[in-house]
Amino acid sequence: MIKVNRIVYTAFETPDLEAQVEHYTKIMGLTLVEQDGDAAYLSAGGDHHTVALRKGGEARCDAVGFQLPPGTDLDAYEKQVQAHGIKTERRTDAQPDIKDALIFSDNNGTNVEAFVEAEPAGVGFQPSGISPNKLGHVAFNCTDTQSTVKFYCDVLGFTVSDWMGDFFAFLRCGPDHHTINLVDGAKSKMHHIAFELRDWTHIRDACDWLAQDRIPLVWGPVRHGIGHNISTYHRNADGQIIELFCELDRVNEELGTYEPRRTHQEFPQKGKTWEDIQLAANMWGSPPPEGFLD
Ligand SMILES: [Fe+2]
Repeated sequence: MIKVNRIVYTAFETPDLEAQVEHYTKIMGLTLVEQDGDAAYLSAGGDHHTVALRKGGEARCDAVGFQLPPGTDLDAYEKQVQAHGIKTERRTDAQPDIKDALIFSDNNGTNVEAFVEAEPAGVGFQPSGISPNKLGHVAFNCTDTQSTVKFYCDVLGFTVSDWMGDFFAFLRCGPDHHTINLVDGAKSKMHHIAFELRDWTHIRDACDWLAQDRIPLVWGPVRHGIGHNISTYHRNADGQIIELFCELDRVNEELGTYEPRRTHQEFPQKGKTWEDIQLAANMWGSPPPEGFLD
């Protein structure tokens, strides 16, 4: 089975392109690598872009870009996707740095853009703003979480790392504990986008940076039980939740165990269904504010 192995970018429609570009450059410390009319591309440093913005009527997530392993035959992957009865499209202009992308919709209404090769921007890290390491994961509310989990596992090759009860799944496509999160919701939409920071002191500095612009945290700092990451959550100019995290569990795929951490309470720590929702959400105590998961 051909599997994606990396998340590279998330694409958004936004009613206020200027305000979103300002948030992702000035606050988040991404680099504006390209702006073409109503589209803007912002990079965390390693890839051509990490966030793609397109001016439009509503604030929503358009697409998520996933890379396939080097040398993957995209034609063969397209056949694999089509074998599930999924309609696909090939585009040469989906993103400015990708000359051959396979595009299809997941069963939750988000476009998946899969590709093998992309041109790097080579912009490096910004000396100001939060300046994250990378895009870590994207979380979606789903009206049918179980079938969306099946879609990501069967069509894109994801593995479930952990479940919170039967309503919140954490899926990986590489060594990081989760790359896509899927949680029950009244309607299908993106819930949050998460960026990896270097360590806990980087999160502290990021919170101070947000405070200078009077951007409050909506939750955190927390120590999640699932994934064991330290996280904070704030909103961008469109009101979408941005998570900043560090110390996320990493998975030894051959052993099926998570790399040992002081924060673990089981040895070895393995994927499971967490029934203690409070512990799964925040080992340090404070639960998410009311309505946070909606
Ligand atoms: Fe998250």
